[in-house]
Parts: sequence; C-alpha cells; structure tokens
Amino acid sequence: MPPLPNSNAPQPIRDVLDSIEQQFELSDEKLREITAHFVKMYQLGLQHGHEPMAMIPTFVTAVPDGSETGTFMAVDLGGTNFRVCEVTLEGNHKFSLKQKKFKVTEDLKTGPVTNLFDYMATCVGEFLEELGTVPEEEALHMGLTFSFPVEQTALGAGRLITWTKGFSATGAVGNDVVQLFQDSLDKKRINTKCCALVNDTVGTLLTRGYLTGSCFLGAIFGTGTNGAYVEDMAAIPKLKKKDAKHHDKMVINTEWGAFDNARHVLPLTRWDNALDRISINPRYQAYEKLISGMYLGEIARNILIYLIDLPPVPGSNPPQYYLFKGHSSKKMNTQYGFDSELLSKIKEDSTPGAIRQLLVEEMGFVTYQISDLDAEIVAWVCDKVASRSAALSACAVAATLIQCRYVQLGGEPGEKSADTLELGVDGSLVEFYPGFEQTMRKALRAIIGDKMEKTVKVRMAKDGSGVGAALCALVAVKSEAKLS
Ligand code: BGC
Repeated sequence: MPPLPNSNAPQPIRDVLDSIEQQFELSDEKLREITAHFVKMYQLGLQHGHEPMAMIPTFVTAVPDGSETGTFMAVDLGGTNFRVCEVTLEGNHKFSLKQKKFKVTEDLKTGPVTNLFDYMATCVGEFLEELGTVPEEEALHMGLTFSFPVEQTALGAGRLITWTKGFSATGAVGNDVVQLFQDSLDKKRINTKCCALVNDTVGTLLTRGYLTGSCFLGAIFGTGTNGAYVEDMAAIPKLKKKDAKHHDKMVINTEWGAFDNARHVLPLTRWDNALDRISINPRYQAYEKLISGMYLGEIARNILIYLIDLPPVPGSNPPQYYLFKGHSSKKMNTQYGFDSELLSKIKEDSTPGAIRQLLVEEMGFVTYQISDLDAEIVAWVCDKVASRSAALSACAVAATLIQCRYVQLGGEPGEKSADTLELGVDGSLVEFYPGFEQTMRKALRAIIGDKMEKTVKVRMAKDGSGVGAALCALVAVKSEAKLS
C-alpha cells in the first residue's frame, strides 16, 4: 500500500516515507515472534526474582464476584494526578464513589520522596475535611494504588523496585512505600490506616471482576502500560511455600513495560533509540517506550524532526524540503514538546485545516510553513506510531492468553476453554485514541486466530484504581479480623 494514498507527494518524499513505513511494519510473523518471547519472559519472571519482567506476586488470591460490601478510602498515585476517593461497595456488582483529584508537580515527582508523601497526606486530610468525615477514634482503612513496580512482601507492604513514567523522587527505591505514606499520614495526624497496596492493573482486574463476575486480564494502556492476571500458584516457583499456603491462585502484576529491555525482539527504530538515549531511564521500560502515552508523542516528534532536518531533494530548484519547508518551532525542538494527546486529536480530525490549526496553536508554527502535504505527512507519521503501539499491545494480551492455556501460538486451542474472556482495560490511549482497540484486535487475530480473538471482550474499567484499592482494603480488614 502506498504510504500516502491521497496525495501527490513527489517521488523523493515518497521514498523517504516508504523507508519509515518499512521500519514500522509488523508482519504477522514478527508479531508471533514477539509473543513467543513474551511467554518465555513471563515464565522466566515467575521462576526467579530480579528478572526485568518482574512478574510480581501481589498477595491477592481471588478476583471478587460482585457481592462485596463496605466503605473504604482509596488513594491513587500513578501519573500526573493524585486521586483521593471514598468508595462504597454496594454489593450486587454496584459501587459509588466520591473523589477529588490533585495535581502532582514536576518538583514533587523529582524531589525528596518525603515531600511527595507529605503532599499526598495533606490531600487526604483536605478531602476528609471537605467530606466532613474526620475520623477520631477508629482509624479509617485505606487502600493505596501505587502504579509503579513494587516488590510486594504482603498485601499491605512492598518495596519500590524502580520509578517509571518520569518520576525519580529520591529516597524511595528499596523502601516500603506503604510505610513511607503511613509515616506522612501519622506525622500530619490524619487518622487513617493504609492497609492494602495495589497496582493499577490489579485494580482494573479486580474492578472488572466486581462488575461482571470474571476477568482474565487487567491492562493499562495510558501514560504507562502494564497488565495483571490470575496465575496458578504451582506455576510460580519463586514464591516461597509459606507464602503460598492455603491458596491455589494468585494475581501477578507482570510489569510488562520492561519486556525485552535486553532488545532481542522489539522492532526498535532510530527514533525509538533517540527517545531512550536521553530519557531519564535509558535501557529500561523498553516495551512501554514503544506503547504508552508518555512516549508516543516523543517518537512522532523525533520522526518529524528527522524529516525537517533532511537536506532538500538533490537538484531541486527552488530547494524542496521534506517537511514544513525545513522550518521547526521552539516547542517542536523541545523534548516531549509534542504531546501524545495531539495524536488522538489528529486522528479524530485529519483534515489539513484542522492539523494546521493544531500545529499553529499548540506547536508554535506559522501558517504559511504548513502545506496540505505537510499536514498529511504529520497525520501519517502520528498514525504509524499509534498503530504500532496498538499492534504491539496485542502481543502482551496474546501472551497472557497463551500463559493461561486458553490458546496456543497460531490459534490452536489450549487446555482450557471459555465462551468469553473479559479483558478489563483503562488508560488514556485505549480510551481516547480512535481505533486503538480495532488495531489491537487485528494483530490479535494474526497471533492467536480469529476464533480466540472473538472470545476476548474488551471492557473499560473506569475508576478501577479506586475500586480495586477499596476491594483490597476490604480483604485486608477481613484478614485482620480473622487474626485478632
Ligand atoms: C508501571 C506500572 C503501571 C503502569 C501503568 C508502568 O510505568 O511500571 O506499575 O501499572 O505504568 O500505569
């Protein structure tokens, strides 16, 4: 298929775009190769600690069935916002929620971690005051959704392995994040007890379970990407016997963003390498950097800058440049200056007029610098980057289906069968990028066949983080009661 079907792009420009196209192409065979490696890395991570794909046992041993009841506090740190909620599980698959969002500044993300947790504690205090629920005697139970790789040691404790998504607050890595948060709550005399720690993917999985009674995978395709699924205890050799007693299943937080940090199979281009090289965590989160919202705009920007920088077509007179007549803008020259949100906006309206307006208003270009062909190229570049993200996302979903023995690579049936399999999702990409699910499904068909792809039902788990944290707080309270 020619890259720009509706344009009369001159041949030299077509040639350059063709070469970009080739680097972004994912054949069915490549998708299957990536998926096979994914399954291998799943198994490696389940065997040993300290693998890049951490496969973290979460100490959550069941998916809820919708009958759970109770009112709990839940807080959620994972990206640009910190959310504080009061969640009421009403049973009968229903819940209600009151919440407030607070902005997390760059200073908080990168300064001493005590500032971050103190700020979070202050937000909790403010929320409770507004709600009129100031706990005096008995502490309120609270679940913490903390969407970073944390080595859990219990349902309510875990050490941060590494930061992701632009966070680098000092004094956190290696420490128990629940304890750090509790210290800040205690210091500020906010009478709440943080009793459960959950990843957002686990929250998504549990929320879909609560809403519909089952869910095989909770996945986030947002600022970051990751997934959590239910594994047989017997398939987690690294879990010590004492942790495994009395249960035959455990939810695993895969931390698949770190898939293939060793770069064996991922189809990295020069623009991905440029992004990685100057990121705050080079050589980490390799898969996430190809897929998630934090990075897609930056990959697109790198390609656009490459096109801007190319010398004019040899022999052209007047000189013919490849993009924007060779012009750039201050914003375009700035790392992360091309927001991933622009990819969604451009996909929603790809007319030259709309794109020109966006480039002028949001990227500081001057109207005359942008021809219709330039606008078309920008839309094409953004589409390449986002489509690759959606197709690569399918590898993780397929790998989970294979690991859970529902299917084999290529589509042969597995040992287990199901009429429908719920995939709970959340995150800005899957929610707002037009056609993300369709592109992911197309790749899924190539990897595991049409029949299996049809059994997968993709459902949003809005507010999954809050509800998941509340459900885990409930489990923690119940087991506390049993022990006392
Ligand atoms: C984090 C995960 C998280 C995902 C989605 C990744 O960067 O490592 O823990 O689940 O983002 O928020």
